[in-house]
Amino acid sequence: MSSNDPLATAAALKATFGPRFAWGSATSAAQIEGAAATDGKGESIWDRFCSEPGRINDGSNISVACDHYHRFRDDVALMRWLGLSAYRFSIAWPRVQPLGRGAWNEAGFAFYDQLIDALLEAGIAPHATLYHWDLPQALQDEFEGWESREIVARFADYAAEVARRFGDRLGSISTLNEPWCSATLGYELAQFAPGKANRAAAMQVSHHLLLAHGMAIQSMRAQGRPAALGVVLNHTPAFPATASEADRRAARLDDGLNVRWYMDPVFRGQYPADVLEHLGADAPRVEPGDLAQIAQPLDFLGVNFYTRSFISTAQPAVPAPGKQGFTDMGWEIYPKALTQHLVRITREYSPPPIYITENGMANVDRLEDAGRVADPERVAYLRDHLTALARAIELGVDVRGYFYWSLLDNFEWNSGYTKRFGLFRVDYETQARTAKDSAHWYRAFIGAAKA
Ligand code: FCB
Repeated sequence: MSSNDPLATAAALKATFGPRFAWGSATSAAQIEGAAATDGKGESIWDRFCSEPGRINDGSNISVACDHYHRFRDDVALMRWLGLSAYRFSIAWPRVQPLGRGAWNEAGFAFYDQLIDALLEAGIAPHATLYHWDLPQALQDEFEGWESREIVARFADYAAEVARRFGDRLGSISTLNEPWCSATLGYELAQFAPGKANRAAAMQVSHHLLLAHGMAIQSMRAQGRPAALGVVLNHTPAFPATASEADRRAARLDDGLNVRWYMDPVFRGQYPADVLEHLGADAPRVEPGDLAQIAQPLDFLGVNFYTRSFISTAQPAVPAPGKQGFTDMGWEIYPKALTQHLVRITREYSPPPIYITENGMANVDRLEDAGRVADPERVAYLRDHLTALARAIELGVDVRGYFYWSLLDNFEWNSGYTKRFGLFRVDYETQARTAKDSAHWYRAFIGAAKA
């Protein structure tokens, strides 16, 4: 499909998505809320990481971010204007439990309580994520955060409390967002908080994250609330650059570390044997019974999809072809992989219903006169990924919703504020939000798709 007309795209895809499909957008607490020390919020590992010189490319921090904590009603109005039927946000653990154990912070819970009510009043289903990377710093100080098994019980307590308080008003609760990023980028590649570089520690962290997920699912189920329970995984399908044995083997390993390392324990109760063998002494310590705790039945699987990995063992590496271009993150635009990957995981894992919990692009948007923000690249990205998603549904994949990342330009982790993913441009001096062309496109598309 090449037309940029949202109505034409909606007309072509509407029957495939059907009337109950959830049209959403996503954000996370650390990236938009600000109010880092307001109303009793505790410090998070990202607050701390930003204060360490050299960690964030533009030297910025998250003490104000998009000031969503104070402007959430305006932001819900933007969502209503877009016509969203669903919104995915995360709860900052240190906002509701400043030390990660012990006392709850009622002012913190009040913020999410009001946000959820505002969404429901606007007819938008709230979908919450419990852990989008902002661990209470106190837990990092006390026992190296996710490196310790101690954290598992703390997380299960926190999850149960959220489910108890909000589980009758939330459409869904996801335990973790992208545990691969928490473990590998946080503990092996030192790009994300807490900024360590130790593969054995990273793999132990991945096991504790998975175990915490499984225990949290159980502690939340015990609350008997109707919210659907699941997990959000980032999938970057690996493609070998050539048909050589070396490239194919490297792509298989990349898939093992990114996709199968998380899918296999969650849906099959085992770690992939080839990855365990590759890790050798860096494989995590797993206690008897852990895998059964991890492999809990789920109500949905959240998949975050942005790009593919193009795996080359040649020196120098064969570059990704990028026929449809690259985003401002340098990520190759390759929507076809979304279709292929969803078909593959459906065949291999028979997962529960899938939500695309994130998909989007960073772009250098152009400010035009009269408050217009031109981002034709994002319009094309959105159109082509929705088309690829519809194709997957036609091929039998059970997809129930799509969340564009992100509602607003925001703090893009170690890239600071230099990368803009939003449907709305944020002027960080004034906090003014301006609908980009892509926001107008998505709004028209949703309106026609829902009609
Ligand atoms: C994902 C994160 C999200 C955002 C996007 C661009 O990995 O879940 O917070 O930063 O990437």
